[in-house]
Amino acid sequence: MKNFLSIDNVTDLGGLVEQALQFKQNPFASKDLGKGKTLGLIFMNPSLRTRLSTQQAAYNLGMEVMVMNMNQDGWQLEFEDGSVMDGGTAEHIREAAAVISQYCDIIGIRTFAGLKHQQNDYQELVLNKFVTYAQVPVISLESATLHPLQSLADLVTIQEYQKSHRPKIVLSWAPHPRALPQAVANSFLQWASQWDCELVLTHPPGYELAEEFTEGVQVLNDQELAMKGADFVYTKNWSSYRQYGQVLTQDPSWMITPEKMDLTNNGQFMHCLPLRRNVVASDEVVDNSIVIPQSKNRLFAAQAVLSEILLDAQ
Ligand code: CP
Repeated sequence: MKNFLSIDNVTDLGGLVEQALQFKQNPFASKDLGKGKTLGLIFMNPSLRTRLSTQQAAYNLGMEVMVMNMNQDGWQLEFEDGSVMDGGTAEHIREAAAVISQYCDIIGIRTFAGLKHQQNDYQELVLNKFVTYAQVPVISLESATLHPLQSLADLVTIQEYQKSHRPKIVLSWAPHPRALPQAVANSFLQWASQWDCELVLTHPPGYELAEEFTEGVQVLNDQELAMKGADFVYTKNWSSYRQYGQVLTQDPSWMITPEKMDLTNNGQFMHCLPLRRNVVASDEVVDNSIVIPQSKNRLFAAQAVLSEILLDAQ
């Protein structure tokens, strides 16, 4: 694996999930693989899980880690080619990405959607500039449209908890007071589409995701109908894709409650976190869920990805 930007960089999904589960059994099995190598983690946006789990994953492989909160600690970056930089931006991505590559063997980058210019976000303008000008492998720590490390951890969790070979997995929209990107939902659909499962997407009208992610997925606007018999209910808010970045409704009737979970096949509630309690899901649902083991698997997902990149570079 050269870069890890989406599921398209994965040649053997089952093998990658299995590798993550093996690291869970023995986190230090490859403790010398990354010896003498440095991981640089560049954050343009806040993070708890991605930052700490990826850092710990690198330590488990013997790597050194440097973390930079670019927006707070770095120079303001320019992404336009040919721009006259006489405004607020002080450093061009061409130099920034090349310079970081002088100090790091792998670069992780988190860059959320701005939710203002759909085309810029869906062309992954910022991530792709980093990939173009970096001289070492790049991993996505969540980009404008995808969150592949999260999705891998989600499938690792589903593999651990599934009771049948072909579970029913429901991705449900839930209310939220702020406009959030579509990245987690897009990415989950991409990865779950390659898993042996019955995949159902449910959201209120107006929250349709980009067609490239929903092709072949059953879509229902009736949340309770969708949740019937589900083995997993993956819940996430996202803002509108068609009315780009807008919050069209905060309808509280879409919150996940114990009564709705009773419709499932003794199903598990999943969420990538952070989660607003009693808005997205009730306390009782969260407290009886697998969100904490799911977050633990972020560590082993990151370790599996870093290990593949390190092995490829040998
Ligand atoms: N799920 C997730 O990516 O969490 P953070 O935003 O805290 O990293």
